[in-house]
Amino acid sequence: MSAQELDSLKAELLEAIARASDLSALEEVRVGALGKKGRVSALMQRLGSMPPEERRDFGQAVNTVKTAVAEALEARHTDLSRAATVAKLAHERADVTLPVREGPLSEGRIHPVSQVTDEITEIFADMGFRIAEGPDIETDFNNFTALNIPPEHPARQDHDTFYFAEGADGTRPVLRTHTSPVQIRAMLADRPPLRIIAPGRVYRCDSDQTHTPMFHQVEGLVIDEETHLGHLKWVLEEFCKASFEVPEVKMRFRASHFPFTEPSMEVDIGYAKVGDEIRIGEGDKWLEILGCGMVHPNVLKAVDLDPKKYQGFAFGMGIDRIAMLKYGMPDLRAFFSGDLRWLKHYASRRSPSPRSPRG
Ligand code: PHE
Repeated sequence: MSAQELDSLKAELLEAIARASDLSALEEVRVGALGKKGRVSALMQRLGSMPPEERRDFGQAVNTVKTAVAEALEARHTDLSRAATVAKLAHERADVTLPVREGPLSEGRIHPVSQVTDEITEIFADMGFRIAEGPDIETDFNNFTALNIPPEHPARQDHDTFYFAEGADGTRPVLRTHTSPVQIRAMLADRPPLRIIAPGRVYRCDSDQTHTPMFHQVEGLVIDEETHLGHLKWVLEEFCKASFEVPEVKMRFRASHFPFTEPSMEVDIGYAKVGDEIRIGEGDKWLEILGCGMVHPNVLKAVDLDPKKYQGFAFGMGIDRIAMLKYGMPDLRAFFSGDLRWLKHYASRRSPSPRSPRG
C-alpha cells in the first residue's frame, strides 16, 4: 500500500468519525477501523509478512494512521457522550414548579350514603337526640324476641334473616335485620327520658333493583312519661322539611303493622318528577320512607319498664332510599358496586358542613 493510499484511508476514516452522529454510529466506525477485522488492524497484520526493511517504514506509517484515528475516535466519543447527557437531561427534566399530584385527602370522596347518614343524624341531634349504636351481629333476643316477635311469630319469616350457627345457649345469632334492636340496647343501658338516633347497616337476604342484601337504616326512639303520637308526627315532619330543604312537605301516614309498635304507621313522602328532576314535597307520587309507631307495651315490659308509667314512639327509616331520592339515582345496587367513576360523579369531595335543621 502506498503512502497516498494510507493518507486517503486516514482521511476517509477521520471523515467517517466526524460524520458519526451518535455513539452507536461511532462504535461502528471504530470496529470497522480498529476492531479485530478492522481495516487498520488488517494493515498491521500485513507487517508480519513484509521484508524487514519495508516493515519499519510501513509500520511507522500505519501506526501514525492508527494513532490519529484513535485520537479522533476518543475526541468524538467525548463530544457525543456529552451531547447525549445534555439531551437526556433536557428530556428528563423535572419541573419543580408543577403542582404536586392530588393526595388521598383531596382525592377521597364521601359516599352518598355516608353523606345522607350524617345529614340525618345531625338534624335529629339538633332536636336533642343522642346517637346510639349496636353491633351488626345481634342476639335473637334483641333482634326479635324483645321486640315482641317471639320464636314462632310469622314476622320472622318476613325478614329473610341471615342466621348464624346455634350458640351454647341454643339460640342463633343473626345479622340484624333492622336497627330496632338498638332500641332494646338503649333501654337496657339507660332509664328514661330517652331520645336516641341509631344509624347503621342492616341485612336481609334479598337483591334486586331496589333491594341489596346489606342496606342502611336509622332508628329513632323517644321514651318519656307523656309522649304521644302528636310528638311523633311533629318530629317526622320537621325532619323531612330539614332533610329535603323545603318549607312544606307532603306526607302520608298509612296505618300499618309492626309487632313492636301499636298503633303502627308507614310514612310516604310526596314527590313529583319533572323531566329528570325529582321535586320533593309536591306532586302526586309517593315514596315510602319509614315505618313508625308508639312503642308496644310488650317491648317496654321486655326491658323492665312499666308501660303504665312510660310510653314513647319509635321509627325506622331507610337511608339508601332517601339518598336515591335526594340524588335522583335509579339503581340501589350502584351504591355498593365500588365503581370509581360512579363515586367520582355522585360522591362529594368535602366532609359535610355543619348545618341547622331548618335551613
Ligand atoms: N324496624 C322496622 C323495619 O325495619 C321499621 C320500624 C322501626 C317500624 C321502628 C316501627 C318502629 O321495617
